[in-house]
Amino acid sequence: MTVKIAPSLLSADFGRLREEVTAVEAAGADLLHLDVMDGHFVPNITFGPQLVAALRPHSRLLFDVHLMIAAPERYVADFIAAGADIVTVHVEACVHLHRVLAQIKEKGAACGVALNPATPLGLVEEVLPLVDLVLLMTVNPGFGGQRFLHFVVPKVNAAAIFLRDRNCQAAVEVDGGVDVTTAPVVAAAGATILVAGTAVFGAPDRAAAVRALREAAEG
Ligand code: DX5
Ligand code: ZN
Repeated sequence: MTVKIAPSLLSADFGRLREEVTAVEAAGADLLHLDVMDGHFVPNITFGPQLVAALRPHSRLLFDVHLMIAAPERYVADFIAAGADIVTVHVEACVHLHRVLAQIKEKGAACGVALNPATPLGLVEEVLPLVDLVLLMTVNPGFGGQRFLHFVVPKVNAAAIFLRDRNCQAAVEVDGGVDVTTAPVVAAAGATILVAGTAVFGAPDRAAAVRALREAAEG
């Protein structure tokens, strides 16, 4: 099975963001994962639409924006205007999840729904046939470099089976603690996009790191 590799900018050198993006693009990354945190939904703060807009002219990669913010409907339009290709919101942060997903589609981006490790898949079953991507967190969101939570693997598999059984094309994205050891585990479970922060930006050679992840996942 082929997988897509989405380096997460969270682990990049924030003083050299443009070069970091160029490096992973040259390394053969498929998407750029951008982690937006508000210090409220998660206990950390990163960046907003202004940064996405600043990087947009310097990359042809798909911008995969992961919103870890409360009431994301307030900012969806701003991130799409800034150049997000995919906007993913957390089910735990949306009172009216379907309305937010429709808002993302209406503004012209692909939509995704994310689940924390402890959130059951059943909470999003009604909307799974409507989304372009389901993001399964394999760490508790907020920080890079955390340990992969193995108990999420059956949920990754259940999401892949659910989508396959209904002929849905949505991507199954896994985020958190993905490295050469865990990449084959999530790929075997049916993940189609692997987010990797530390495993890519923590490596001296970004290209070798992206290659190693892809090889590990595809076997
Ligand atoms: C965590 C973020 C992840 C993070 C992954 O809240 O959503 O995208 O950057 O980092 P690693 O790959 O280091 O676990
Ligand atoms: Zn993320």
